[in-house]
Amino acid sequence: MTILVTGGAGFIGGNFVLDWIAGCDEPVVNLDKLTYAGNLQTLASLQGHPRHTFVQGDIGDRALVERLLAQHQPRAVINFAAESHVDRSIHGPGDFIETNIVGTYKLLEAVRGYWSGLPDGGIRAQGRAPTESQSPTKDSFRFLHVSTDEVYGSLAPTDPAFAETNRYEPNSPYSASKAASDHLVRAWHHTYGLPVLTTNCSNNYGPYHFPEKLIPLMIVNALAGKHLPVYGDGMQIRDWLYVKDHCSAIRRVLEAGRLGETYNVGGWNEKPNIEIVKTVCALLDELRPKADGSSYAGQISYVTDRPGHDRRYAIDARKIERELGWKPAETFESGIRKTVQWYLDNPEWVANVQSGAYREWVSKQYAP
Ligand code: NAD
Ligand code: TYD
Repeated sequence: MTILVTGGAGFIGGNFVLDWIAGCDEPVVNLDKLTYAGNLQTLASLQGHPRHTFVQGDIGDRALVERLLAQHQPRAVINFAAESHVDRSIHGPGDFIETNIVGTYKLLEAVRGYWSGLPDGGIRAQGRAPTESQSPTKDSFRFLHVSTDEVYGSLAPTDPAFAETNRYEPNSPYSASKAASDHLVRAWHHTYGLPVLTTNCSNNYGPYHFPEKLIPLMIVNALAGKHLPVYGDGMQIRDWLYVKDHCSAIRRVLEAGRLGETYNVGGWNEKPNIEIVKTVCALLDELRPKADGSSYAGQISYVTDRPGHDRRYAIDARKIERELGWKPAETFESGIRKTVQWYLDNPEWVANVQSGAYREWVSKQYAP
């Protein structure tokens, strides 16, 4: 059996592929367009690996996706591929519409064609779990769509955390495009019976995170002696989830999630941005003290706020815990320490991203 992962050269998809290959014998076909956010250096340890097939391509390329599905006969497709950065979506929403909405639609159509040609059921009747079956069937196949808590909009300070039943109220071009993709996935289940699962998670952090997002940007800027730009008053709240915990949640939903359901995934770590930045500075002060003895916190600078900036996100993760027994393994304290240490231990990955050399590295070292 095989799984097809899209966006597996990005931050979360890359961590997912690395963990999957390390944790089981099942091969992965990894389809990624290699936009600026795709980094094959993240997957350097899998070069030549017999269970990892990398294919550079677009989820919206229906002919390519159909060929990959026919060739590899995956038992599941896990869709991480997306444009993912809110600030970029504000300055240029076009790519977000193209990949997150149109791309998801085309992917769904290719997958629907493949799934409808699979042999009928049997695995339920035979009492076997999907993973034990030798080849995929209509019953055992899964399409797992990875989405975000940002589709629910912004919470007031005393609102309860987002539950799966919350209304969709996306505010940024990014979250609106993800909301649209979630609706398409839902509709393909209700209309065509495609066996889908959707996860909506909070802000991830951890290794291999592109340094345009808050935590990795603060680490690399601090080390480079640059300003640490905090938007507005820095009191916006995000709910942080260590990326490896997110990956374990996706594996669990794939294994046991109820068809057509959505599962919120979060780490119960609501924190204002300024607290995150100060925590990163304190860890760097401890692990890589500055020569002059001053704190990295001296580099913090408050800058103009993001337009339409959502004030607070928080995930109620009780459904996935209750139904599937999933819980995060990391606290924020343990996860952020591991993350800062990872950036200190991997200066080459960081330098190649900062200089842009990771793009060349891709074509030289890992040509498809
Ligand atoms: P990322 O930007 O780091 O990676 C996205 C990957 O998708 C890149 O490798 C890119 O090359 C690839 N890609 C983009 N367009 C593509 C296309 N048209 N066809 C094929 N590949 C394409 O993103 P991430 O942080 O790893 O996020 C993965 C998924 O998780 C996204 O769907 C995102 O919306 C969702 N998500 C992320 C977070 C977070 O905190 N990072 C939180 C909630 C949900
Ligand atoms: P980000 O990592 O871009 O994720 P998202 O917008 O999807 O939540 O931003 C996290 C929070 O940090 C968000 O409230 C915006 C804020 N932020 C800053 O204050 N400064 C920065 O330089 C960045 C990139 C983000």
